[in-house]
Amino acid sequence: MANYPSGVVIVTTTNDEGLPVGIAANSFTSLSIDPLLVLWSIGNKSSSYDIFNHSKQFAVHLLAGSQLELVNTFSRKDIDRFEQIEWSLSESGLPIIEGAYATFECDTFETIVAGDHAIITGSVKHITTNIQNPLLYHQRRVGPLPLTFHGNI
Ligand SMILES: Cc1cc2nc3c(=O)[nH]c(=O)nc-3n(C[C@H](O)[C@H](O)[C@H](O)COP(=O)(O)O)c2cc1C
Repeated sequence: MANYPSGVVIVTTTNDEGLPVGIAANSFTSLSIDPLLVLWSIGNKSSSYDIFNHSKQFAVHLLAGSQLELVNTFSRKDIDRFEQIEWSLSESGLPIIEGAYATFECDTFETIVAGDHAIITGSVKHITTNIQNPLLYHQRRVGPLPLTFHGNI
């Protein structure tokens, strides 16, 4: 599966105590246009599995090419992730990370347990964009979209 190229996102929410929680993910994709739905999946060994499964809302940050360090921060277990970064709470109470090229604030639509992951679908309620070069994931490597990339569809 690592041969399939994707973008990289950070998904955030808050736990029962109102503290920010976040995880790096490449399983994010578009699901439906009308209504506007997205999905991502979380492994059942993740420390935030139960939190995301029960949270009523979450925010997805599509990472920019310059945000490689955020992937390290949000996939390491031994650090306070939100201590390392610039973030703030949105009007709806979701932790928003600065500098992403798009942010989707979502209400959880449906959660489906599938094998050792849960598919979390979200109804997009608010979008902010700051279009720039995206961060990509391929064969366990993460980096910006090469400037030599061409082709329109
Ligand atoms: C590029 C990349 C993509 C990842 N994609 C996912 C994903 O889609 N779903 C998931 O559950 N974990 C994914 N992970 C792993 C989590 O980020 C990592 O296991 C997790 O944050 C570990 O800490 P936790 O137990 O606190 O969640 C990914 C990691 C990296 C580096």
